[in-house]
Amino acid sequence: MDGPRHPQFKDLKNLLLIQDDPYIVRMLHTKRWVLCAAPLLLLATAASVPWEAPPAPTPRAPFKYAGTKSCATADCHGLAAAKGSPALNEYQVWKQQDSHARAFSDLYKKESKVIADALKIKNASQDKKCTSCHTLIVDKADVVPGETWVPQNGVTCEVCHGPAEKWLQPHTKQKEPKWEHAESVKNGMVDLRDPVVWASDCVRCHLVIDHEMIEAGHPRLNFEIVDYNSRTPPHWATEKHPSKQPGFDRKMWAVGQVVSLRESLKNIEARKAAGAAEKHVKEAEALAAAYRNVLKPFADPSGDLEALAKSIAAPGDDAGKKLAAVEAVDFESARQLALAYRALTSADTKALAEMVAAKNQASFDLGKFKAALDAVRASIQ
Ligand code: HEC
Ligand code: HEC
Ligand code: HEC
Repeated sequence: MDGPRHPQFKDLKNLLLIQDDPYIVRMLHTKRWVLCAAPLLLLATAASVPWEAPPAPTPRAPFKYAGTKSCATADCHGLAAAKGSPALNEYQVWKQQDSHARAFSDLYKKESKVIADALKIKNASQDKKCTSCHTLIVDKADVVPGETWVPQNGVTCEVCHGPAEKWLQPHTKQKEPKWEHAESVKNGMVDLRDPVVWASDCVRCHLVIDHEMIEAGHPRLNFEIVDYNSRTPPHWATEKHPSKQPGFDRKMWAVGQVVSLRESLKNIEARKAAGAAEKHVKEAEALAAAYRNVLKPFADPSGDLEALAKSIAAPGDDAGKKLAAVEAVDFESARQLALAYRALTSADTKALAEMVAAKNQASFDLGKFKAALDAVRASIQ
């Protein structure tokens, strides 16, 4: 591991002692932050209201859900094999290979019973504390009349792409009359082509979790977007897709770090508001510090995180400069380093390393990860 190439190692010791970290303290006290955290604060003031997953990034309220059936037909996204761009076999890829299709059935596993028992939840598959991420519960009034919404389908198309009522029909007729992607977005489709929205959509289920859930045995959430994208059976990766452009992963990685920092700051606030034990608050703080440290060499993560994420994602000069700096810190090593930092927040780093390695055959280098972890450890001793 090329430690000295990572300037953030130098002051790591201080950075990890973050009780008084001026950046985090400031973030938690600025007006802007209070605004961002408003929904969480509302939750907090409602005393013992159970913790809920953060809301979806785009307001979805005025639109109704059409259900998976409407995407799955052979003349829509249900082709048996890929053809063109988009490939139109997305449903088959999702159904057969994507673990999101099994997210609901996780709640019937014996592990879920153990977690549920510890939390005194009667039925994991019916409790909001679990269904909030393992599926989406939609009121009948929010389903297109005549269609059905089946929570058992897990994390389906519309959970990520948004309710399809208003764009379902027109987006299938892209030629006549011309219906652009932007039209769909105006009509309730989540603009996942925007890297900031993409990353934000994933982290709402993959990063912030109730500390009690972890105590009860829920897997720790360890999210890094390039890693998770690479492990999602790529129903989007047709030749023409933006993700095939050179440098896309690099950009996505940097955006993902900023968005994860933003989300992990909410985690601190949520845990404090819920009266979590000191160690859980510290763990959340360490995770935020990890994202922040990884960002430091190429961008100053103080100030407006939303603007920073957007500036990295946008095709302007500023993004170019920032991305060149990502290159300078060595993208692949930086990714391993990011995981190493996060391992520090895990009670059992060995188990974490093994878990990440096992689940990440394609993009994870266990040797590099171990070296990064050793370097991080050495520098704080
Ligand atoms: C904040 C969102 C969130 C909530 C709330 C949540 N989960 Fe999860 N759960 C996840 C994610 C994300 C994963 C996958 C983690 C990974 O592999 O990175 C997961 C994984 C799991 C797994 C392991 C699945 C496997 O075999 O790989 C089980 C079991 C589980 N959750 C049960 C539950 C139960 C029971 C509840 C309610 C008490 C719950 N979850 C609430 C997001 C959540
Ligand atoms: C876990 C979230 C998630 C789920 C579930 C999901 N998608 Fe996607 N999908 C994405 C992301 C992220 C992209 C890449 C960004 C983009 O192209 O919009 C994408 C891209 C696509 C594209 C390519 C769009 C383009 O811009 O070229 C199609 C088509 C698509 N998805 C259809 C589906 C269908 C059909 C389902 C259900 C069978 C589904 N998706 C389920 C996240 C998801
Ligand atoms: C609505 C909540 C939700 C959203 C949004 C979501 N996920 Fe997931 N994801 C889950 C749950 C729950 C699981 C656990 C399913 C399982 O592995 O059994 C999971 C599992 C995964 C896994 C498999 C993890 C493993 O350890 O094997 C990957 C990879 C993944 N998600 C990537 C993504 C990406 C990339 C995005 C954004 C485009 C995303 N997810 C958006 C809830 C979500």
